[in-house]
Amino acid sequence: MSGEYERAWRLSLEDPEAFWGEAAEGIDWTRRWDRVLDDSRPPFHRWFRGGETNTCHNALDRHVAAGHGERTALVYDSPVTGRAQTFSYADLLGRVAVAAGGLARLGVGRGDRVLLYMPMIPEAAVAMLACARLGAVHSVVFGGFASSELASRIDDAKPKLVISASCGIEPGRVIEYKPLLDGALALAKHAPERSVVVQRPEHEAPLVAPRDLDWEAFLDGAEPADCVPVAATDPLYVLYTSGTTGMPKGVVRDTGGHLVALHWSMTNVYGMNPGDVFWAASDIGWVVGHSYIVYAPLFLGCTTILYEGKPVGTPDAGAYWRVIAEHGVDALFTAPTALRGIRREDPDGGLVSAHDLSGFRTLFLAGERADPATVSWAERTLGVPVIDHWWQTETGWPIAANCMGLEALPVKHGSPTRAVPGWDVRILSDEGEPLPAGETGRVVVKLPLPPGCLPTLWNDEEGFREKYLATYPGYYETADAGHVDEDGYLWIMGRTDDIINVAGHRLSTGAMEEVLAGHDDVAECAVIGVGDSLKGQLPLGFAVLKAGVEREASEIVAELVARVREVIGPVAAFKQACIVARLPKTRSGKVLRGTMRKIADAEPWKLPATIDDPAILEEITEALRELGYPRGEAKT
Ligand code: COA
Ligand code: AMP
Repeated sequence: MSGEYERAWRLSLEDPEAFWGEAAEGIDWTRRWDRVLDDSRPPFHRWFRGGETNTCHNALDRHVAAGHGERTALVYDSPVTGRAQTFSYADLLGRVAVAAGGLARLGVGRGDRVLLYMPMIPEAAVAMLACARLGAVHSVVFGGFASSELASRIDDAKPKLVISASCGIEPGRVIEYKPLLDGALALAKHAPERSVVVQRPEHEAPLVAPRDLDWEAFLDGAEPADCVPVAATDPLYVLYTSGTTGMPKGVVRDTGGHLVALHWSMTNVYGMNPGDVFWAASDIGWVVGHSYIVYAPLFLGCTTILYEGKPVGTPDAGAYWRVIAEHGVDALFTAPTALRGIRREDPDGGLVSAHDLSGFRTLFLAGERADPATVSWAERTLGVPVIDHWWQTETGWPIAANCMGLEALPVKHGSPTRAVPGWDVRILSDEGEPLPAGETGRVVVKLPLPPGCLPTLWNDEEGFREKYLATYPGYYETADAGHVDEDGYLWIMGRTDDIINVAGHRLSTGAMEEVLAGHDDVAECAVIGVGDSLKGQLPLGFAVLKAGVEREASEIVAELVARVREVIGPVAAFKQACIVARLPKTRSGKVLRGTMRKIADAEPWKLPATIDDPAILEEITEALRELGYPRGEAKT
């Protein structure tokens, strides 16, 4: 081992100003910062205070100015439509500048919010970069969310404008976006002034003048706009993520810290060089899509892939290998669930050998725990390093990883390796005491958080303090549980809150419970996440009916399932529920969700000492048995 990782990690914690000040030299600034780290108002910290820059300039203009205009910036590969398109840096810059001009013509300027509800099409990346060009704040909402989720984000972000598309395409079906958007606008209290809609050939959406504008008309005659320098501490975007209630949290990303951290991560975590091809097989609606489809690869001058398809079924389980071979992908970033899907259809990896993967160097996994069986399969099948790394929407880039650009450490299956430079990860007991190596506790990060991590929640600094910084003063609470072993490797074992992880998507069971509780016949309810061999976890609902309700249980269950799909969206993957007479509770009335989950997952469990009536657990076990739980082998 070269010791390079250890040196960088130590320096980043001992002298963060020197470390990140040096990293910031990789970015173009219109005004240099006054201070690398402003720690004058703990627990809130700000990076590069006084500095001015522009994100779009660093993603596009500077590469063109340096003579790399002909290099490929973005490849759009869409097996669901059969279309593919390549954009050079110069081409993408031209399109983004005109789109920024279109935004400016509609009165969008620095600090204004623009909400994007878009499928994986190039216009989505163009719109994000166009906002960044003007200093406007984008807020992208994932297409799998339904109208009311969209409405709650519109009301929180109060966008001046919404940009959408006529439809998204899921295998075998066209999802009309416009009715979902119109439904959201009808529900929202805040009314954006205009909607711009990209009309796709698969479905033309009826537009209502003068509010709705066709994307082509929006661009037509627009003057290309220049980059607007903004403060390093200005927000680049707001991205909503699940909290413990139905109200999502608006994670704010600042401009300067984000640029510096993401640029640094491309080289040091992902081992990329300018001109390399990086593919994050995610969606622009998730943080991975923001950071590693749109921004970081462009900051470094790489080629990024925008893939509108699935790992399986578009058309088969060889789709990823086809994309890697066809576009010369150096590194792929995906979620373990995608690999589990591929493995299930092509266990022997026969479809891999049909493609030339000789240029492929590394596979990165995140979004959920990378189970050792999947990692071993990928290593065997692909013959490249498979690197699990751990992060969150809030952090924007990895907290723990095997930093391939610094030094490849030995891989331990099931661990995302060690804390990335900049991150001081600790394990605390529930009471906030440091725990020794090997003991599982609450995973926290000692303040200050490195650049790129959220500085606050949108319009809710107090909420930021309360939700992340208050429980353990001096630390950021990740809400993950885990331990550090004797070698300093981190092991992330699950969440400490009611967030579940379904197919790499983060979902709140609390939000689903709010939806179930809104059904007229439901007196009380609980939603838990149960293990699933493909998606990692799946939600499962329990409902207790109001006295006197005599309807068929199956009818009510079907309504509950439909209701979650309608209110939260298909992405919730809520398809199972049962009606029970009572819920197991402690004597103080707390529902024993953890015990219910253990029963469903065939994990060992103890009768909680505080349980109100142990017989209820037998009823729950019986209800679970009727749904086919526990499934598979018992875990120990
Ligand atoms: N718009 C509308 N609906 C969408 C959607 C979108 N953008 N994305 C997903 N959906 C729908 C799906 O069609 C599915 O609907 P169904 O219930 O009618 O089948 C539902 O939402 C659940 O979607 P999902 O859980 O994603 O399942 P899937 O079968 O479509 O795909 C995977 C499974 C594993 C391929 C997919 O979840 C995946 O690629 N996950 C990786 C996630 C990721 O990138 N995470 C970021 C970290 S890397
Ligand atoms: P999201 O904000 O959607 O990115 O989800 C973040 C959560 O996903 C984390 O808090 C973890 O619970 C989980 N997660 C992400 N990556 C990993 C990983 N590599 N190992 C274990 N859990 C992970």
